[in-house]
Order: sequence, then structure tokens, then C-alpha cells
Amino acid sequence: MLVTVVTLFPEMFPGPLVYSLLGKKLGTIWDLKTVNIRDFADNIWHKVDDTPYGGGAGMVIKPNIVHDALTYAISMYNDITPTIVYMTPRGKVFNNNVAKGILNNNGLIILCGRYEGIDQRVIDFWKTNHNLIEISIGDYVLFGGEIPAMVLIETCLRFIPGIMHNPESVNDESFSIDLLEYSQYTKPAIWYGNSVPSVLLSGNHLEIAKWRTNQAKQITKEVRPDLWEKYLKNNL
Ligand code: ADE
Repeated sequence: MLVTVVTLFPEMFPGPLVYSLLGKKLGTIWDLKTVNIRDFADNIWHKVDDTPYGGGAGMVIKPNIVHDALTYAISMYNDITPTIVYMTPRGKVFNNNVAKGILNNNGLIILCGRYEGIDQRVIDFWKTNHNLIEISIGDYVLFGGEIPAMVLIETCLRFIPGIMHNPESVNDESFSIDLLEYSQYTKPAIWYGNSVPSVLLSGNHLEIAKWRTNQAKQITKEVRPDLWEKYLKNNL
């Protein structure tokens, strides 16, 4: 699985992605490349942006430069068709289900914007001709798409067989069945006078499973009523 990040700040990668299990599998199960948008600048000053038509604050990245960078990125995949994602607060909101939809074994190209954005014409062109999809990691605005790209990469790759030591844990954790995960405890059994729930020490696996399900329901109801509604709808 080759992931290519098209960015003005390639030095930000792999960054935090080399820690955890993902880093251990980098170079075997998955690979990461970066394409520096600035390398495709059409002028001797390596300038990639210009003022927005219609006025307003900030600068907009020019379409021809992004187009050339994406064309170069896609050329690295030979006969494979990678999924192409543009990280933008205007995109579809990301979650585990969106992550599973993005994943195919062919590869992934992620375009990161900066400044006020990228000229819409190049986004539209890649939508029409290469099925580019726009994704947001949430209703807030960051300075650029690089941190969102890292969020997307880590989330997607955790679903790839061979990444996790224990594939069960992907199915067991928060959101996998529209519930947040139950609380976890480890040794010591008593800490500052607080005991671990006794059922967890009972060795009764059926009771433990029941307790965990109830706990997951309770916490979801309390913290995420929207998710709880969804769970009720899907589990009637
Ligand atoms: N770029 C800036 N903010 C973003 C967000 N919330 N999601 C994706 N890309 C972004």
C-alpha cells in the first residue's frame, strides 16, 4: 500500500507516523512518499500562490502547479488506480466508516492545502477525471491539510490486515458498533483506595462481557447522545 502526500511541507512527514505500530510496518506493509508542490512552481522564485480573484484575505495556490504535482504523484502508481483525497474543511466529515470506504489495496494520494485554499478548477478537474474526494477531519479549521492527512493515514491503515498485532482490537474499540469503548483497568487492583470493578476479577467471561456492554452503552448515552440514537436505530 503506497501512500503519497502532495504537500508544501514534505518535511512534516512521516513525523508522528513513525511511532506506534505503523512505524514498525513502514517499508513492509505500507510505504510513504511525499511530493513537494513547490518543486512544480512555474517561476524562478518558486512561488506557488497568488491573490484571490474577487479580493479578500490570504493567498490561493495556483491550479497548474497543483495539477503538475498530482500528475507526477499518480505516475508513480503505474497501472494501479489510487484513491485521491483532498484534505479540506469543506469535505465530507471523516470517521471510521469513511476510512474503510477510502481503503483499497491499490494506494492513496493525499493532497494537502495551505493558505486560503487551492484554485477550485484543479479540484473540479481531478474530481471529474480521477474521482478525487474531499475530506474534512472535523468542524474546525487548521492551517493546512498535513495534520488532517496524518489523522486519515493512521485511521485508514489500522484497518489493513497485518498492521495490528491483535486484529480483534479494531473491532472491539470505540465506534466499531456505534458505541464508545468500555472503561479499561489494569494492576494494581486497588489504587488510592479505589478498587477495580469486582466483576473484572471474577474470571467469569460471560459476566465480564455483559458488564462491558452495559458500560459501553451507559457511557455512550451520557457523552454522545447522537451516537446512542444511532445505536438504538441500528439495534432494534
Ligand atoms: N485543512 C484545514 N482544516 C481542515 C480540516 N478540518 N479537515 C481537513 N483539512 C483541513
